Amino acid sequence: MFIFKTVKSIQNHLNKKQTRQKKIGFVPTMGALHEGHLSLLKQSLKENDLTVVSIFVNPTQFGDPEDLEKYPKPIESDIEKLEKYGCDLLFLPETKEVYPHNRVKKEINLRGLDKTMEGAHRPNHFAGVVGVVDRLLEIVQPDRLYMGQKDYQQFAIIKQFLRRTKSKTELIRIPIVREADGLAMSSRNIRLSDAGRKKAVIISQTLYQAREDSKTMTLTEVKQKALSHLKSNGMDVDYFEIADGDNLQSITTSEQSDTVIICTTVRIDGIRLLDNIIIKESH
Ligand code: PAF
Repeated sequence: MFIFKTVKSIQNHLNKKQTRQKKIGFVPTMGALHEGHLSLLKQSLKENDLTVVSIFVNPTQFGDPEDLEKYPKPIESDIEKLEKYGCDLLFLPETKEVYPHNRVKKEINLRGLDKTMEGAHRPNHFAGVVGVVDRLLEIVQPDRLYMGQKDYQQFAIIKQFLRRTKSKTELIRIPIVREADGLAMSSRNIRLSDAGRKKAVIISQTLYQAREDSKTMTLTEVKQKALSHLKSNGMDVDYFEIADGDNLQSITTSEQSDTVIICTTVRIDGIRLLDNIIIKESH
């Protein structure tokens, strides 16, 4: 696996004629790689001639400096995992490479998609995500971009961003990878206490039950039941929303929506755990 730390070096490599003739898949990450990330990598390796993974803990998407500080950075084991799975290229830039002084910051209107759910709890988070993904795409210029369903709102925002900027990059959504008991994999899970880790299973159980309930109950009833279940189990719920999968607005009936998603974020041991489930999708 080639490792590049500067924009110039990765671009020199990617811009070689024989490389540009290849299909390039791209998996942006912030490191601390787990099975969830590796499922994106595996899919990209299957569908492309060359796969680029980036590891960059993007400061502009963290509101809380402490969260940024505490973000795990196990770079040696990340590199080992990427090599084991057969990643072709790792882009491992420093902040000054991603955000050079002379770079003009683009104003990106996210049309309210960044204001609901996660956005209501993390102001400017999605502006930071879109900014860095835009910059990484400019550097790598991939044919396909792989993102996880785990961060569904992020996926939906990037999808809209690519559509509006008429990007040639195709966005591929990869399903959530779960632990054996159902907990969605996340780099944050290792920060849970033993008791917190046990309690965390309630999140996915509630989502599965909500999907079942949606077959016989109104969405308002589904939401009320799920919220009271989470709260009666002592969960500190940031939000539990049933939303249109494209515009991310809360809905009470699924008829008008092609995609319907239930998204929740719960805090355990002060750690925010996100999860979601798609209950309707028409292709
Ligand atoms: O999902 C993530 O890990 C990050 O938000 C991303 C897409 C790599 C941008 O920093």
